[in-house]
Amino acid sequence: MLARDDESALDLSFREVRERHRTKHVHRLHPYLGKFIPQLVEHFLRRNFRLGDWLLDPFAGSGTALVEANVLGLNAVGVELSAWNALIARVKLGRYDLPLLESEVRDAVAQLEGFVRGARRWPGGGAPSSSGPYLDLWLAPEARAEVLFFRTLIPRYVHGDVLRVILSRATRSARQVAHYDLARPQRPVREPYYCLKHRRICAPITSALKFLRRYALDTVRRLREFAALHTPAEAVILCADARTVGYDGWQFDGVFTSPPYVGLIDYHDQHRYAYELFPDQPDQAAGEIGSPRHGTGRAARETYVGDVATVLRRAPLRPAAHVFVVANDAHGLYPEIARRAGLELVATMHRPVLMRTERDNAQYRESVFHLRKRQ
Ligand SMILES: C[S@@+](CC[C@H](N)C(=O)[O-])C[C@H]1O[C@@H](n2cnc3c(N)ncnc32)[C@H](O)[C@@H]1O
Repeated sequence: MLARDDESALDLSFREVRERHRTKHVHRLHPYLGKFIPQLVEHFLRRNFRLGDWLLDPFAGSGTALVEANVLGLNAVGVELSAWNALIARVKLGRYDLPLLESEVRDAVAQLEGFVRGARRWPGGGAPSSSGPYLDLWLAPEARAEVLFFRTLIPRYVHGDVLRVILSRATRSARQVAHYDLARPQRPVREPYYCLKHRRICAPITSALKFLRRYALDTVRRLREFAALHTPAEAVILCADARTVGYDGWQFDGVFTSPPYVGLIDYHDQHRYAYELFPDQPDQAAGEIGSPRHGTGRAARETYVGDVATVLRRAPLRPAAHVFVVANDAHGLYPEIARRAGLELVATMHRPVLMRTERDNAQYRESVFHLRKRQ
């Protein structure tokens, strides 16, 4: 085991961990609703795995488990359906020529500054008239011109995917939403408004430039920080449906994963701006397990049980593998999922979760199911 310490002294809420550690290095490269707190992953990986083990996360999301596995010297494979999420995870785990990355990022920002200084005149004449319904609705015309211009620069650079992540993050921040409502805004804000977060009148955002400047340097700094922790362990991200993906002869010493929950989050819709910015990213929303598009009724729950059980049953596990599944099991579905997946329950731990958004601090309870292969 990588570590052992006094379990009784540990509080799985990680309440005492400060925001800056919860979002350390690459864990804040791009917003993602419903990601792990890295300290939770680290806690279980340290206690249950050895250097060089192979870990699987079949619902890899933005790659939190893979990042933490890598820092601990564990090889890891992640499967993720959403192309944009898989791209975020790959960018977090990439190895970069850091001086080149920094010069590319600075060059792109300098080009954008020139575009803004030149009154956002599109090179060679007319700007694109539409960027897609979401960006047309949520961005001011100036901000939209800036993000579209920045997008045209990306193919020039070696580290284009890093620039895509920077651009997507900046686009999200540049939307005309109230500062206190970034996570789930209802309608664009076009006039000055009373801001519940800052307790004063705030003006709607009209430009993306300051976000692109800020996130460009922040991203380089975070990737540099992670590069110092990166181990030579392998990290592979497969953009695929975990119900049908091929595992190519891999054998895993364990699983650490958090499946989508029934009807809670639409993992494509939360990054609508990214899918519009980068239409080459295929939209696989129809394959999402537990999608709110199917509701939370009895039929949706039954399909969910079958789907998650299929994913877990298909994981090629060594006999002694540990399987950890983190779930907000409001409907009590996991005992049946485990049974259908051929797993038995070793322990169930519970942890309170604080959902911090700009507007409120909602609390709910999450379970960590520790499972083993049924012998
Ligand atoms: C709770 S999130 C995982 C978040 C992850 N633990 C993190 O820290 O970023 C669940 C993920 O499962 C993905 N997903 C949903 N259906 C899937 C499927 N059929 N195959 C693979 N991934 C799927 C969603 O796109 C989402 O990113």
